[in-house]
Amino acid sequence: ALALVATGDLAGRHVVVSAGGTREPLDPVRFLGNRSSGRQGVALAAAAAARGAQVTLVGANLSVPAPAGVELVTVGTAAELREAVRAAAKVADVVVMAAAVADYRPVNPAGTKLKKTGAPPTIELVETVDILAELGHDRLRDSQVIVGFAAETGDAAASVLEHGRAKARRKGADLLVVNAVGDGQGFGTADNAVTILDGTGEIVSEAAGSKDVVAHAVWDVVRTLV
Ligand code: CTP
Ligand code: CA
Repeated sequence: ALALVATGDLAGRHVVVSAGGTREPLDPVRFLGNRSSGRQGVALAAAAAARGAQVTLVGANLSVPAPAGVELVTVGTAAELREAVRAAAKVADVVVMAAAVADYRPVNPAGTKLKKTGAPPTIELVETVDILAELGHDRLRDSQVIVGFAAETGDAAASVLEHGRAKARRKGADLLVVNAVGDGQGFGTADNAVTILDGTGEIVSEAAGSKDVVAHAVWDVVRTLV
């Protein structure tokens, strides 16, 4: 018999990666969604598997295939993603929240298709649970490393980095991967540039290039913490 033993600097580690974008139903055929393709999360899962980790990929509406050698858990909504991530996180050394999770969902999705009435409806929304902040708060497992992603644009109030620092402090995660979006950067593009912050908002690493390069840069930092 041939014994297969994982090698690589993440061998023996169990990691959970969420990827893609959630869809929150309005009725059986319509949803509130976002443009996330899941490419960065899939690249993170593939890179972790290549480095020897046991990988659970929680995928929400992925527009790219899951990599070979990872366990795929398919979800649709933010609530489903939360349940799947929390279940997998109970036995994980690392959780990476790369998914674009809806901030709000329709309060009462209709059971049957909404009909046009001539009077445009007002759709009542309710906030979803912040899964990343909840993981950071609950700490389901001792010495678990929790990583968030933040796509930011600068605005009148603050720069990309200032928004990132504030988010890093607010989330209670160990690392926050910040990338600038807008002007052709980020969503749906092949290359990006990221700044990796610790939970206090200090810069611990920077990387630029393909989503694969960014993924390995994230694992390089995580590796120092697990
Ligand atoms: N996130 C989450 N649950 C949510 C919303 C976001 O776990 N309900 C996670 C994302 O997966 C990501 C991180 O939080 O890892 C940052 O997401 P982002 O949308 O940038 O942060 P928000 O706190 O939602 O702030 P805002 O959208 O107002 O910038
Ligand atoms: Ca958000």
